[in-house]
Amino acid sequence: MIITLASSKGGVGKSTTTAALAGALAHAGARVHIVDLDSNHTVSRWLGGERASPRLSVSAADPQDLTEHLTAMTAKHKPDITVIDIAGSYERALTVAIARAHLTIIPAGPSEADIFEAARVARHIQSVFQAFGRAPLYRLLLTRVQPLASHAQLYACAEIERLKMPAFSTAIHHRAAYMEIGLSGLTPHFSDRKRTPVAKAVAELDALVAEIDTLVGLWPKQARKGAA
Ligand SMILES: Nc1ncnc2c1ncn2[C@@H]1O[C@H](COP(=O)(O)OP(=O)(O)OP(=O)(O)O)[C@@H](O)[C@H]1O
Ligand SMILES: [Mg+2]
Repeated sequence: MIITLASSKGGVGKSTTTAALAGALAHAGARVHIVDLDSNHTVSRWLGGERASPRLSVSAADPQDLTEHLTAMTAKHKPDITVIDIAGSYERALTVAIARAHLTIIPAGPSEADIFEAARVARHIQSVFQAFGRAPLYRLLLTRVQPLASHAQLYACAEIERLKMPAFSTAIHHRAAYMEIGLSGLTPHFSDRKRTPVAKAVAELDALVAEIDTLVGLWPKQARKGAA
């Protein structure tokens, strides 16, 4: 199972959501491997120490070699789920990672610019899959949403509906628990869950995992249990 986090826009939360989601999936019992296609190697730096979980591993790859890299990493780590993080630009990596994905998640903040860009990526996904004669599966994921619901958020939801963009009902809020991943190397599920911002992040990530499970069936063979 391959999940790609894709947006041509920088700073929308691709790397943060990749790390947090991968942590949630690993905590739920899956073996998760992150492929970092961003030449800045953001997620590799954040989680490279593998402090979070033995079930969570990261590798950096050149988009040109993605197919070979996926084969080698599958043999080495035997992941149940591979999550691909890409750079925020319209480069070849975007197309390659989208084409390989069972599900593409398009993160977007609640702003006109982010949602406009998300719609552009959705059209790109449709054209890539049309070329293969396959139906794509993608969802917009609202990220960096302010915890106190604002009118901006309501307008953002209305705009997503107007554009007929399929979207997750779960949103990722702006929380300290996400900001600190890069510094602590710990995703919310493996951080101090007694802290309120961490507990809230864990709850919304679990809701996101449940939505993804409904879409693609994440746990075909294994029980959804498993300790961290
Ligand atoms: N849900 C969130 N809550 C708080 N801060 C966040 C959240 N998501 C992202 N950030 C912060 O926003 C910044 C940009 O996030 P991130 O690096 O994940 O974006 P990106 O889409 O991967 O960017 P790029 O396109 O440059 O790779 C980072 O400093 C990160 O800590
Ligand atoms: Mg990034």
